[in-house]
Amino acid sequence: MTNNNIYFVANWKMHGNLTSLNSINNVIKLAKSKKFRKIKIVYCPPYTLLEAFVKKTKNSYISVGAQNCHHEIEYGAYTGFINSKMIKNIGSKFVIIGHSESRQDGDTDSKINLKIKSALKSNLKIIFCIGESLKDRRKNKTNSILAKQIKKGLQNIKKLDNLIIAYEPLWSIGTGIIPKRNDLEKNLNFIRKNLNRIKNGNKISILYGGSVNTNNISNLARIPQINGFIVGGSSLKSKKFIDIIKKSII
Ligand code: PGA
Repeated sequence: MTNNNIYFVANWKMHGNLTSLNSINNVIKLAKSKKFRKIKIVYCPPYTLLEAFVKKTKNSYISVGAQNCHHEIEYGAYTGFINSKMIKNIGSKFVIIGHSESRQDGDTDSKINLKIKSALKSNLKIIFCIGESLKDRRKNKTNSILAKQIKKGLQNIKKLDNLIIAYEPLWSIGTGIIPKRNDLEKNLNFIRKNLNRIKNGNKISILYGGSVNTNNISNLARIPQINGFIVGGSSLKSKKFIDIIKKSII
């Protein structure tokens, strides 16, 4: 990867507590060093740690994001939920929307569309996740699924400056399996082609996520269509996450 738009999103999922905070000290240090200054590191811890992460990373080169938000932008009677305004209000800059684990928990394309609209109104940067299941892939439906997720997720959205796409094949998440380079490039090109149909869609960064680790990062980083990564399991330990960032510089 040689461009300046290299994202490393640490998706902590349902992991971490207050004692985990100090574990990111070395990542903060790395982000400050001149060599890595252009890299955009985004920590997405669970809601319970968002504010602590914002405080911890203040005046550093690291941003913080939430892992989801409710689709309703106004405050209201939604027990157990958090909206984009609240996320913005505590100093988070990003939000992940449409992660397959949230889709499995009830997020439909149309709900995701509402969430993206709400997050845009709140001035958050959105990491919009798309990806096909193994079943879709076996039935040769990858393209139609990706096209549908993009079309429905971005329906009636004109302002795309704050949008980042993350391609995460479901069968790669947490499995240790990543797509073959040919397949990955084919799918990334297909996503890019779909985005190019939208006004200014060519400016949207595309990330890859799914079992990114210290062994496969050097090869993944050589794929020019990728503008960064979402790292789940391998971002929980700073040492591994740092290794991944370092190995991606080629
Ligand atoms: P993984 O998760 O790196 O543990 O596969 C990535 C993700 O779900 O965003």
